Amino acid sequence: MVKPAIDYDVKDLGLAEEGVKRIEWAAREMPVIRLIRERFAKVKPLAGLRVSGCLHVTTETANLALALRDGGAQLALCASNPLSTQDAAAAALVAVYGIPVFAVRGEDDETYYRHIHGALAQRPQVTLDDGADLVATLHKEQRDLLEGVMGGTEETTTGVIRLRSMARDGALGYPIVAVNEADTKHLFDNRYGTGQSTIDGITRATNVLWAGKTVVVAGYGWCGRGVAMRARGLGAKVVVTEVEPLRALEAAMDGYQVMSMAEAATLGDIFITLTGDVNAIDRGHFEVMKDGAILANSGHFNVELNLKALETMSETKRQIRPSVEEYRLMDGRRLYLLAEGRLINLAAAEGHPASVMDMSFANQALCVEYLATRPRRLPVDVHPVPQEIDHEVARLKLASMGIVIDELTEEQKKYLSSWEEGT
Ligand code: ADE
Repeated sequence: MVKPAIDYDVKDLGLAEEGVKRIEWAAREMPVIRLIRERFAKVKPLAGLRVSGCLHVTTETANLALALRDGGAQLALCASNPLSTQDAAAAALVAVYGIPVFAVRGEDDETYYRHIHGALAQRPQVTLDDGADLVATLHKEQRDLLEGVMGGTEETTTGVIRLRSMARDGALGYPIVAVNEADTKHLFDNRYGTGQSTIDGITRATNVLWAGKTVVVAGYGWCGRGVAMRARGLGAKVVVTEVEPLRALEAAMDGYQVMSMAEAATLGDIFITLTGDVNAIDRGHFEVMKDGAILANSGHFNVELNLKALETMSETKRQIRPSVEEYRLMDGRRLYLLAEGRLINLAAAEGHPASVMDMSFANQALCVEYLATRPRRLPVDVHPVPQEIDHEVARLKLASMGIVIDELTEEQKKYLSSWEEGT
């Protein structure tokens, strides 16, 4: 194969042919991105725009990348997690589609950050992020780039929380659109995407039967709701732990057992963290778990299980299957950690299915267009996705599913805008 004339770092360009087929397979389920790509190819709203993206490098992300490229963007991509890269997709993006990618599945932390700098090297005008590592690196280590950035987008809950805290501290240097907060993103991707792909990751890693198991879901945000729903659907007894009273109440009324992690730790067969916070499962919890308990994280960062404590409590550790490590504790109990505590759906499976990423990435593509075509730069802050974009994504997705919905009649519109009529 001829070496592409672009800077890149991927595992093996020989995987490109397989990557193309996989990207095409994902495209079948991404009709909204396809429509946006077709319009972008005609109108070129991103002509010459330098866009650097730190996203999970998957076949779905490849379809977003192609839409942005066809819109005229000069795109560079790096991974947003060391274990989530699909090497075949990365190879195809470089070798066949000419997009610089810096991502190798299993890369160490040093390489991960070198790759972020690789994506930043083109001095982006727009950034795409999933977890805010690219934005944080740019602000901490390449401040000279700040002036040239007109804005960025953020894909995930954890990233939005991080960026809001930067904005609160006066540390944010350019505006961000919080794609995660579009209804057409979190109500679908976080709930149905994480719900399905988390169960998929744990099943692929372990081949456990879910029926009859006690599954402890830590965190009842949209991701936790999705995982709890799907685990119950497979016949598991689901326990929810939550620190936020309203969410805990919702979980209880959704029919789950709700309790503290201290109590749940003694009951669970499978533990899944989706809290976005550190040490949701801590030393004291490991101390009371049953022999054979399985531990998985589906939150963005590998901080939700106190792995340092687990290491110090363990006599030995061995890899027993791909993505499964057995920790033997001093008292003889065995705990099974999946995918090093990294997000299980991408580390042990393929992430969310294309059909749901279609909506998330439609929001991404339309938000990049929104940032690039505004007459004036947005104020520096974390902004919601404009409602027109959210509604447009819902409309296009419904149309692609062949679903036609009713419209309000003039009489109904009038009724809704008046206050005189009551009982
Ligand atoms: N986040 C979760 N699933 C994903 C996927 N399939 N591609 C990109 N980002 C993701």
